[in-house]
This record gives sequence, structure tokens and C-alpha cells, in this order.
Amino acid sequence: MKCSVIILAAGQGSRMRSAQPKVLHKVANRTLLHHVFVAAHGLNPDKTIIVYGHGGEQVLAHQPPLDAIWVEQAEQLGTGHAVAQAMPDIDDSHKLLILLGDAPLISTEILQTLIQPSNQDCLSLLTVDLENAEGYGRIIRNAENSVQAIVEHKDADATQRQIREVNTGMMCVPAKRLRGWLQQLKNSNAQGEYYLTDIIAMAVADGVKIEAVKASNPQQVEGVNDRLQLASLERYYQSMKAEELMKQGVTLRDPARIDIRGEVSCGQDVVLDINVILEGKVTLGDNVLVGPNSIIRNSSIGAGTVIEANCVIENAEVENNCSIGPFARLRPGAHLMNGAKAGNFVEIKNAEIGEGSKVNHLSYIGDAILGKGVNIGAGTITCNYDGANKHKTIIGDNAFIGSNSQLVAPVTIGHGATIGAGTTLTTNAEDEALTLTRSKQKTISNWTRPVKTKK
Ligand code: UD1
Ligand code: CA
Repeated sequence: MKCSVIILAAGQGSRMRSAQPKVLHKVANRTLLHHVFVAAHGLNPDKTIIVYGHGGEQVLAHQPPLDAIWVEQAEQLGTGHAVAQAMPDIDDSHKLLILLGDAPLISTEILQTLIQPSNQDCLSLLTVDLENAEGYGRIIRNAENSVQAIVEHKDADATQRQIREVNTGMMCVPAKRLRGWLQQLKNSNAQGEYYLTDIIAMAVADGVKIEAVKASNPQQVEGVNDRLQLASLERYYQSMKAEELMKQGVTLRDPARIDIRGEVSCGQDVVLDINVILEGKVTLGDNVLVGPNSIIRNSSIGAGTVIEANCVIENAEVENNCSIGPFARLRPGAHLMNGAKAGNFVEIKNAEIGEGSKVNHLSYIGDAILGKGVNIGAGTITCNYDGANKHKTIIGDNAFIGSNSQLVAPVTIGHGATIGAGTTLTTNAEDEALTLTRSKQKTISNWTRPVKTKK
């Protein structure tokens, strides 16, 4: 049986107290809506429909392109009304999995159990037991323990409010049946809304079997309503990520002080010190050490490389046995080849640093190609920008650049060349020769320093 997915994302989320619609808030740097989409995508559904409404323009503009059909719910008249907006796009022969755009930690595995019940004509419902069920729809069961209905908190009586089993909001329903039930929904309830949850009692009346699947872990099905819940789900997510890494053989100096905001793949015996942030797609080879307070974003770091404290590395490629930092910044297009070094207060952008080459202190290397065994003295700067255009600096193998030199690009320095300290290089420097531009040192004896003039 084919399955389609509807994600409800039209609500405002007023308790977030935000100018942004709730589903655009982020866990691990990915919007709540995107998390739900990814979990659903794992099922390979026939189609995914996202019902948007509140802050619609923002949702459409800020969301990364998702392979979904976007349906507007102009007025938010309830979850049943929201689902009804998507029904014109749904084939009667499908099963429909209904998800909430604000419950980000739902997994593909749990959703799988909802779409594959024994009986294809049944309605499966994801429930969970909560200590504090305040605000949730309660699951009403009969003496045989079969689900009979869902009663919303605001409509529940004192006895019903004692029930700890609640509706997560996620369910899977045969489309043809759902279409009929949605047409019968009324809004005569405490909130004056068309409740999706009213279809449960209708299904029971029609003799449709209700299969309740109970989630074992509340956080995996929890919705975000305010910033406290957002923070608590972020922490839960991070603790899961930390656990995954440790199980793969990564040492975390403190599992509570690391943040993973993307896909990380690690070799053996990687050590991550405290306050490391890994974002986007990050690959760390065997034995990589990352010092405290470092951020690595969309980069790959080769085996044996050591990253000292306080480095920021973005869209960079670092090969094996390199040494980086402390306080180094690798910007997009930085490429350190085997054994290269970028030391303290060094910034590298769009530049290849050849095998074993060293940029040890206080330098800016941008739009450059360095050969092997190059030594860049402290304070060297590639002047790559003339105010309008960027230009390249090319440095041959084994060149030695004296400290505090400015290499005004475009410029080429030959292999084995030596550049004297304090040089402002504006034309190419020859292979194996010493080039320097500073004036010859002279001594003026009996030099008197200026004195302050009296007023
Ligand atoms: C809903 C359920 C409740 C369940 C709880 C789980 C109903 C009537 N109640 O309650 O049983 O325990 O979720 O979190 O279904 N939305 C729309 N359009 C609307 C209204 C809501 O798209 O007109 C979306 C919201 O953006 C949100 C989701 O539906 O993603 C849930 O809506 P919300 O108002 O938070 O429902 P609850 O009152 O929490
Ligand atoms: Ca909610």
C-alpha cells in the first residue's frame, strides 16, 4: 500500500514569543520542520505534503528546499481542518501518515512501526505515557484496553485528566476513510476548533481497528511549545549524538560539552576536548585531536592532525599529520597538505599549503599556492586584494619568506627563493636568490631625539 505524509506546520506557536513561526526554530542548527521532513523522507513516501499557514512567507523563504508539496491553511481552524486542506492532493488508495512539524526528534524507525501494522485497514496511533500530561489529548481506553477516543485536555473531565497516556499527534490512517471522517468534524468543543483527534471515535464507530503504538521515550515524540522545551530537546539530541560518537570509539573529554550540528564521521581514537562544535558535514580521520573551544564546519581533517585550542575551521581540507592553532582560522578553500602547519593567529583563505610547509605565526595567506617545504615568517601577508579584484600569490618549493613581508599579488616567488624580512614584494622573485626591498642599514652617530617644545 502506498503511503503519503502530511506534516502540519501552520500554527503560530505563540508561547515561543517569537517573530518567527515555530517550525523555523532550530534544534542542532536544523529547523524543526526539516527534522520532521528528514524522518519522514526515510520512509520513502509517495509524496510529502506540508501544511503551512502562520508566517507562510517566512516558512517558504527560510526553509531549505524540501521535496514536498506546500499547501496553505490560510486560517488555523484546528488540526482536522489543517489535514483537510491537504486531502485534494491525496489518492484514496493511500495510507496517510500525519505528523506534527513541531516534534523534531521523531525517528524513521518509530514511523515505520506506524505505517506497517498487521491490518491495512486499521488506524495506527502513536501514544506515550507522560508524568505530566497537562495540555495533551488523553487516550480513552475501554475495559478490554482498546482505544475508544481521544479527549483534548481542555474538554476532559477530572477523571479523564488522571489518564497519563496521551496522543503524540502522530497517526497513520487509510486515506479514503479519513476523507469521510474529516467531512463529519464539528468544532463544538472548548477551543472551537476542528480536532483531528475526533476521528478516533468515528473510526471506532465504523468498526475500524485502532492500533496504538506506545513510544518508549517521551523526548522522541515531544513537541516544542516554548523555548524551555526547545532547549531541553536540544540537550537531549546532543546527549544522543555524544553517546553515538563514544560508542564509535571517540573520546569525549566531557560528553555534556560538545555540540554536533550535522553529520560527523570519525576514525579511530579521535579525541574531542570540551566545547568543540562540529557543524555540517565533518570528517575526522584516525587519531585526530581537537582542542577546546574549536569550531569545525563542513571540513575534512586527515589522520593524525592536531588542532589546538580555539580554532575556527570552515569549508577547509586538512590532510594527514597537520598542526593547526592555537587560535588559527581556516576559511573556505583552505587546503593544508600532509604535514603542513598553520600556527597561532594565522588566517588562511582559498589557499593551498604544500606538504610540510609552515605558516607559524600571525599571518594572512589568501588566494595563494604554496609548494612543499615553504617557511612563511611571522607577520607575512599576501596582499591579495587591490580594492576591486583578488589576485594570486604563487610560492615555489622550499622558499623562505622573511618575517613581516608583504607579498603584493599577483606575484610569483621561485623555488628555493629567500625573501628578506620586511620586504614589500611587488614583482616576481627569482629561484634560489635572495630578494629584499628594505634600505641598507646605516648608523648616524650622536643622534639626538626630538624634545617636547615648551608652551
Ligand atoms: C495536539 C493534539 C493533542 C496532542 C498534541 C501533541 C489535536 C486537536 N490535539 O494538540 O491531542 O496531545 O497535539 O502535541 O490534534 N496546526 C496546524 N493548523 C491548525 C492547528 C494546528 O497546522 O489549525 C499544527 C501546528 O502547527 C502544530 C500541530 O498542528 O504543529 C499541533 O497543533 P497544536 O495547536 O500545537 O495542538 P495541541 O493543542 O498541542
Ligand atoms: Ca502542541
